[in-house]
Amino acid sequence: MNTNTEQNRVLIFDTSLRDGEQSPGATMSHAEKLEIAALLDEMGVDIIEAGFPIASEGDFEAVRDIAINAKNSVICGLARANLTDIDRAWEAVKHAARPRIHTFIGTSPLHRDITALNLDDMVARIQATVAHARNLCDNVQWSPMDATRTERDYLCRVVETAIKAGASTINIPDTVGYTAPRESADLILMLLERVPGADTVVFSTHCHNDLGMATANSLAAVEAGARQIECTINGLGERAGNTALEEVVMAMRVRHDIMPFTTAIDTTKIMNLSRRVAQVSGFAVQFNKAVVGKNAFLHESGIHQDGVLKNVQTFEIMRPEDIGLTAKNIAMGKHSGRAALRAKLSELGFELGDNQLKDVFVRFKALADRKKEVFDDDLVALLQDTASTGEDDFLQIRRLRVVCGTDGPQEAELTMLVGDSEKSIDATGDGPVDATFNAVKMLYPHEAQLELYQVHAVTEGTDAQATVSVRLSKDGQVYSGQSADTDTVVASARAYVNALNRLHLHQNRGNNSALMQSAG
Ligand code: KIV
Ligand code: ZN
Repeated sequence: MNTNTEQNRVLIFDTSLRDGEQSPGATMSHAEKLEIAALLDEMGVDIIEAGFPIASEGDFEAVRDIAINAKNSVICGLARANLTDIDRAWEAVKHAARPRIHTFIGTSPLHRDITALNLDDMVARIQATVAHARNLCDNVQWSPMDATRTERDYLCRVVETAIKAGASTINIPDTVGYTAPRESADLILMLLERVPGADTVVFSTHCHNDLGMATANSLAAVEAGARQIECTINGLGERAGNTALEEVVMAMRVRHDIMPFTTAIDTTKIMNLSRRVAQVSGFAVQFNKAVVGKNAFLHESGIHQDGVLKNVQTFEIMRPEDIGLTAKNIAMGKHSGRAALRAKLSELGFELGDNQLKDVFVRFKALADRKKEVFDDDLVALLQDTASTGEDDFLQIRRLRVVCGTDGPQEAELTMLVGDSEKSIDATGDGPVDATFNAVKMLYPHEAQLELYQVHAVTEGTDAQATVSVRLSKDGQVYSGQSADTDTVVASARAYVNALNRLHLHQNRGNNSALMQSAG
């Protein structure tokens, strides 16, 4: 195996803000996108796919502002295979020091049917659109969507066309998560062998996780010669998601002996990004998720605990600090001051501005009054909540009282800010949460359906905070909200209102969901 450093450098292309944000319910605000992009840039991500500029005004503005602010990363915007999309993508990314246009078209028989292009017409379209992009920007990436279900001969032909027209990166998407590791490797080997000019471009891999093989497929493609991995933080993405950045990066680091590849990623920033993306997207990380899950470094069984105490390597293949997890978990209490809170949050990877810290401190004190010990996970849950309860939110809960017990009906008295006016209402329901949700709906009538209502205890004990996740759907779009509180009903109300604020934001920025769905 070749161990030459330059040849073995794998570019990390993060698409959390494009493919990730397309996952139902993961809509992020403008400020959240800018913040995530800055963290990705700082972590050493080579290319950030910041959005799909033609999809909506909001997407365009986010890509443009990310481009303006980027320090090191290449900033990329997605475009379908037409001149209008490409021009719009260029308008957004041109502000970056290092811009890239990524244009794509579905090349498999199923996608050719949809576009009603025959084989030759599609080749002509690829030639024209890639050449157009290349006239605008030196750095052009091209993707044959659904490549893994495209006939091999035709795939060679379209890839050759894109290279000749000026693409410098050829991305091979497994759009529907259909391939398997050996096939993923064979596909890259075949393209490198058969396509004229293949040695002049970077091959990239983009895998979805429908069969749980995305990370394995991406790594197999790299072993075969791909030198760019497209991925997202926490594997966020449509359906079962994408290749998870933290998994591929840590796999190459831990198993460098058999995968001698390097990336520019500062892995100590991974945990912070994972937490932030979970917060802003509303997609909590599953406890047993590889690398970043809450249980990834916990040892429950006696044999494992004993082994770890004697030699940590018996049951740990990476160190928590490698991904930025602090080894210490000293509980904070009601006597802890603002400086201690700032230090603790910084240790957990959260650098807050003064105003944000002030807000979190007030909430921390309120929590510490109710709960003897505030653990790291409590603080993370607290931040998760504040992240989506900004002062600018359209709906804000002012006061909630519920009456519950063995004799129903349960009642909720709610006072809420709706836009500029404060409104109050009493409602009943089948249980305190139902009564509360009814009250919210009476103050903010809407048609959204409740798709998911989930409660988790953050730590042990009857005074533990509850994290509540709510998912709503309307017109095919999904909106999530999360909140945490020692009072489960309060957390539920806030999570519900957070999801409604996202719906409100989305409706007001006129997001073009049909367009968003046209990219895999
Ligand atoms: O999955 C896919 O095919 C995509 C393309 C737009 C690259 O996301
Ligand atoms: Zn995709």
